[in-house]
Amino acid sequence: MIGIIIHLEDRWNYTQSDRDIDVLQMYQETVRAFNVDTLIIIDKTTEGIVHKFIGVDTVYATYKTLKEALHAYPDVTKIYFEHENAIPAGTEYSPLNDLIHPKDNVLYIFGGDEQGLNLVEIPLEKDDKIVSIQFTKYILWSIVSMTTVLYDRYLKGK
Ligand SMILES: C[S@@+](CC[C@H](N)C(=O)[O-])C[C@H]1O[C@@H](n2cnc3c(N)ncnc32)[C@H](O)[C@@H]1O
Repeated sequence: MIGIIIHLEDRWNYTQSDRDIDVLQMYQETVRAFNVDTLIIIDKTTEGIVHKFIGVDTVYATYKTLKEALHAYPDVTKIYFEHENAIPAGTEYSPLNDLIHPKDNVLYIFGGDEQGLNLVEIPLEKDDKIVSIQFTKYILWSIVSMTTVLYDRYLKGK
């Protein structure tokens, strides 16, 4: 499995518009382009997701909490992505340049655009990794981070 976990927050779920359709469509088409087989959405929205996922090549799953999602994928390498400023002091992490991507059985995990990952609350396991993208000092949108990571995986796998 090559999987992605993203967080959808209320910011994107304006009930008067179909705004989550736009952003989830972008995730859907981007993961498809990079041959990701599983897209997991942590639905933090009050009203629920409007977008209906379609496509036969990708498995889509929705959970209310990251904890529940992680519970469903116990034997997978988990790589958490966060901006350096949001990584708690003293926590080990590496730059994306140094990441050797697992060939298979991996979950790339991104925080929500408002809240980020809040790494202090995530019970990290021995083989979990925290990685920071360092080509810019700016905090990136989650979908931009995801695309950067997937392109890095593509380049290193060539
Ligand atoms: C917009 S950021 C969250 C920002 C949050 N409001 C904060 O101030 O920390 C959304 C997500 O994109 C990813 N991200 C953003 N910039 C990153 C970077 N430089 N390196 C790795 N991940 C990054 C992380 O997963 C982050 O949780």
